[in-house]
Amino acid sequence: MIKIAPSILSADFARLGAEIEEIRSGGADYVHIDVMDGIFVPNISVGIPVLKSVRRATDLFLDVHLMIDRPIRYVEQFCAAGADLVNIHIEADSTENNLAALSKIRALGRKTGVTLKPGTGAEAAEPYLPLADLVLVMTVEPGFGGQSFLHGQLPKITALRRELDRVNPGCELEVDGGVDAVTAPLCRAAGANVLVAGSFVFGSTDRAAAIAALRNG
Ligand code: DX5
Ligand code: ZN
Repeated sequence: MIKIAPSILSADFARLGAEIEEIRSGGADYVHIDVMDGIFVPNISVGIPVLKSVRRATDLFLDVHLMIDRPIRYVEQFCAAGADLVNIHIEADSTENNLAALSKIRALGRKTGVTLKPGTGAEAAEPYLPLADLVLVMTVEPGFGGQSFLHGQLPKITALRRELDRVNPGCELEVDGGVDAVTAPLCRAAGANVLVAGSFVFGSTDRAAAIAALRNG
């Protein structure tokens, strides 16, 4: 089953509750929340207070993408703030600390995610695959919405799906960055089952049509 995760990075934050209600009624499966610290990526977005408000506003699954340095410092707070899944970048700390961060997330009863930047090879994800509920392949350099899809990431998606089928078949495979009606079918064909889209969904006046196009187009 294909799941659609609109990224609120491209929403109007002054009317965030209404924006989330529009994607919920439009058929979204997850809300993707991009957290940026200005250090791991060259941009600053939203954090724990906004996550708490979103948690109060919706019962949709909250997929929190942490683009922050040494995420182990904060994963418990993001769980407490209402994340259903906390996703960390494998480049953001040592393997030992990242594995400990995933254990903390699981101990709090939340789902775990690990993300790979475009320059990180599929093999770097190996130590994490047994402990992940979701693996995210970035198809743009993290930090900004509205960038062009990096087609060179498609073989990595295929390779990770093949490896996950071997070691953790229930694990979801998500794609984030430049996903629209043209690139979504490529991601689905490569084996992704969760599609993040910011500008394509929130830049469309008809959010339900945009979500349907990502899922079935
Ligand atoms: C980028 C973020 C993405 C971003 C995607 O660092 O992780 O989730 O919102 O935006 P689009 O869909 O516009 O590429
Ligand atoms: Zn994201």
